[in-house]
Amino acid sequence: MSHPTAAAAAPAGKPLISMRDIRKSYGSVHALQGASVDVHAGEVVALVGDNGAGKSTLVKVMAGVIGYDAGEYLLEGQPANIRTPADATARGIQTVYQDLALCNNLDAVQNLFLGREPTGPLWFGRRIRRAECEVRAREVLTRMRLGNMSLTRPVGAMSGGQRQNIAIARSILWTPKVVIFDEPTAALSHSAAAQVADLIRSLADEGLGVVVVSHDIHHFVVNSTDRIEVMRLGANVARFNSKDVTGEQVVNAMVGGNEGANLAV
Ligand SMILES: Nc1ncnc2c1ncn2[C@@H]1O[C@H](COP(=O)(O)OP(=O)(O)O)[C@@H](O)[C@H]1O
Ligand SMILES: [Mg+2]
Repeated sequence: MSHPTAAAAAPAGKPLISMRDIRKSYGSVHALQGASVDVHAGEVVALVGDNGAGKSTLVKVMAGVIGYDAGEYLLEGQPANIRTPADATARGIQTVYQDLALCNNLDAVQNLFLGREPTGPLWFGRRIRRAECEVRAREVLTRMRLGNMSLTRPVGAMSGGQRQNIAIARSILWTPKVVIFDEPTAALSHSAAAQVADLIRSLADEGLGVVVVSHDIHHFVVNSTDRIEVMRLGANVARFNSKDVTGEQVVNAMVGGNEGANLAV
């Protein structure tokens, strides 16, 4: 093998997010035992590892869904102090969850603004300003090159790819700095997965930092991300530049054998 340690050095500049040696236990279960990840503006970072490696736990800490026992979590160089999902949202961190958390009976606009609808003045009964929401929804979807998506069809009647797109649109509605995805291409057709990969790339091209948990090593991870953090048993075991590595090398690192060999820093 070449020297991925040097090759996998993180991009220059201060990361948007820097998590160092994060630890989290549930009783005797050590979900994270010293996990680290940096996320820079303009890059897509993949978190990979077998089931139970701690990927979801790490992104939940990042998103304020759960707390952590020890370690350092910095946001743009300052202590993040993120304790709730609302804190994370307020600081520009958005998450697209695996189950998408969409309401099937509602349309795209309603799903985009769910729980954060702009409302009229109190004396109008806080009527939701639908027209305003539609304009904003259309703006975001056009920016995502999804300008012809129906705004009025219930999302339950849409394809998996379209639903994923709506979940992504919802995450970028409030112009975040970082977007986190947990398994965005799972359960999608090949072409829908390719479209989601393009969208994720365009978010990074716009200057966002993107974190993606994925099992789709041979397609999405090696072809559509910039850097790869391999986790096992709650810690990092390898780190690669995506363009310098094959899917097979990533899988080998996931299942073990050469732990530590590729760790930069
Ligand atoms: N709420 C919880 N209570 C107890 N154990 C948990 C909890 N969440 C995760 N774990 C455990 O922590 C470890 C890491 O889980 P997880 O972060 O979900 O891994 P991954 O997403 O990589 O599959 C696993 O052993 C899992 O069973
Ligand atoms: Mg998981």
